[in-house]
Amino acid sequence: MVRHVDGTSAAVWVETARAGEVAVRLPDDADRGVWRAPTFRVHGHHYALVEVTGLRPGERTAYELLLDGEVVWPRPDDPFPAPALAASPPEGPLRLAFGSCRTSVPHDTVHEVTHGVDALRTYALALSAGERGPLGVVPDLLLLLGDQVYADSTSSAMQEFIASRRSLEEEPGEELADYEEYAHLYLLAWSEPALRWLFSWLPSLMIFDDHDIRDDWNTSLAWRHEMEETSWWHGRVVAGLGSYWVYQHLGNLSMEARAADPLWVELLRRQRERPGQEVDLTEVVDAFADRADREPLSYRWSYTHPLGRSHLVVIDSRAARRLEPESRAMLDEREMAWLDEQLTGDVDHLVIATSLPYLLPPGIHHLEAWDEALVGGAWGAPFRRVGEWLRQELDLEHWAAFNDSFDKVAAMVNEVAAGRRGAAPASVIFLSGDVHHSYINEVVADGGSRVLQLVCSPIRNPMPVVIRVVFAVIAHGVARPLGAALASSARVPDPPMRWRGVAGPWFSNNIAVLDLEGDDLRTVWLAGRRVPGVDDEPRLSLVADVELNVPPVGVALRPAVARVHPQKTPRERVRAAAPVVLGAAALAVVGLIWRRRSAR
Ligand SMILES: [Fe+2]
Repeated sequence: MVRHVDGTSAAVWVETARAGEVAVRLPDDADRGVWRAPTFRVHGHHYALVEVTGLRPGERTAYELLLDGEVVWPRPDDPFPAPALAASPPEGPLRLAFGSCRTSVPHDTVHEVTHGVDALRTYALALSAGERGPLGVVPDLLLLLGDQVYADSTSSAMQEFIASRRSLEEEPGEELADYEEYAHLYLLAWSEPALRWLFSWLPSLMIFDDHDIRDDWNTSLAWRHEMEETSWWHGRVVAGLGSYWVYQHLGNLSMEARAADPLWVELLRRQRERPGQEVDLTEVVDAFADRADREPLSYRWSYTHPLGRSHLVVIDSRAARRLEPESRAMLDEREMAWLDEQLTGDVDHLVIATSLPYLLPPGIHHLEAWDEALVGGAWGAPFRRVGEWLRQELDLEHWAAFNDSFDKVAAMVNEVAAGRRGAAPASVIFLSGDVHHSYINEVVADGGSRVLQLVCSPIRNPMPVVIRVVFAVIAHGVARPLGAALASSARVPDPPMRWRGVAGPWFSNNIAVLDLEGDDLRTVWLAGRRVPGVDDEPRLSLVADVELNVPPVGVALRPAVARVHPQKTPRERVRAAAPVVLGAAALAVVGLIWRRRSAR
């Protein structure tokens, strides 16, 4: 996998079948040398990260991977284009593909019916065939915004593996128990040929969300206590965070950041002590993960990445939380202080990636803020438990459910947008996932930077069709007056910014590509469409193509004009929704008749 790249260097991460020395070389330019790294071992698995240096900004060059001097990648019969190191363009990465929530189940007809077509795999197939999509360009970077793997809801292939090691009757049943199971989960998620090619060709950055560990991870102190009472939680979280560092986090870091990472420093120290021998890092990784979970202040998963004249800040919105009711926060003090330093102007665009949407549909925002107040006792003691139940059942756990943190970030963003932290950027853009539908929201303001929320979810884990309709009506309709009334009944102050929906919601499996170049922002949401009669070769289809005019800072902001393509007239929308509404109504009638009959 090609992970962190900048203008001159690239990190190549591998898991190998055995111990050895991993090397990267450029077959088209042998004179530029060979870059090497020995494997290290964690729970019997072998990994290496090779730092390739001396690249030229913007160059895309083929590479080969060697294990102990023998070429192991690409394989001679590999049907895909050669894997490539794509150094960032001189102006920085400007086209970001992003998305979240991907279950890894097979790509046969049955699973395409139950889980939809995998949007990321379809995009990989299209790119490998030379297609460029509506933007006409290859993205510079893939940003995966959480739920890269599902440790709590497993596929039959994963369950087969678990059953080969322990009884599924044994806790935690079909969920993951240890590092070995995580290693297999990552293998299933990332070894599908088209995806494996994509990862070997397109640089990627990642951040976790709840399912990488468990649904609702750290939603509240009550949730945490519930988990800690189980026999398996400690093993799970240690394995989850340890494997996350190995599989996802290590490759997020620049060479400088990696050189300061305590685990990486320890690995290099041990490698220097015993040259030629594979270092076993198992105990160190386990102890580190255990501490990272018990003492969130001990490690930072958030990071930053330059995007040329723009800037990307990737926030950990799960592990750095404070859950004590009196000091509940999405980010603990240290993390919040760090974020405060990162959110500055003097950039073209300030891009903030957080797995959980910052700007929810306004109605849902009010509901979550109300629920937090309810658990805090705003309606009296009897309603606290109701609030906690609602929080866990309805996933009321986004930034709005950590209202104090929401307000702090809003204050920072308002200052950036007003030009009080350096020259105001043209836009401040939140990129998020998690919510199984996609949309654009925008802050209503008179001037300064445009503040936008772009959400792309899921890559492959769609909401059931009937729930989509209900959700669209509630979340983007009636929740607004209801939520606002509930929030004011619990004396929740109004949020320090107002925002509105610009485009969406879209519910299909999709991957988005954001183009930051020029004065206008353009984002496309792409999905996979089955070709009738052809198995396993989905084609790329357009969900939405949104152009947002970004006026120069200082010009009074009008509401964003989103030109959404393909345009749908209200009549077409009604026509598209009619079968679903009629189907839901028919189901309800059948259910009613059935209930009456069985009551007789
Ligand atoms: Fe999630």
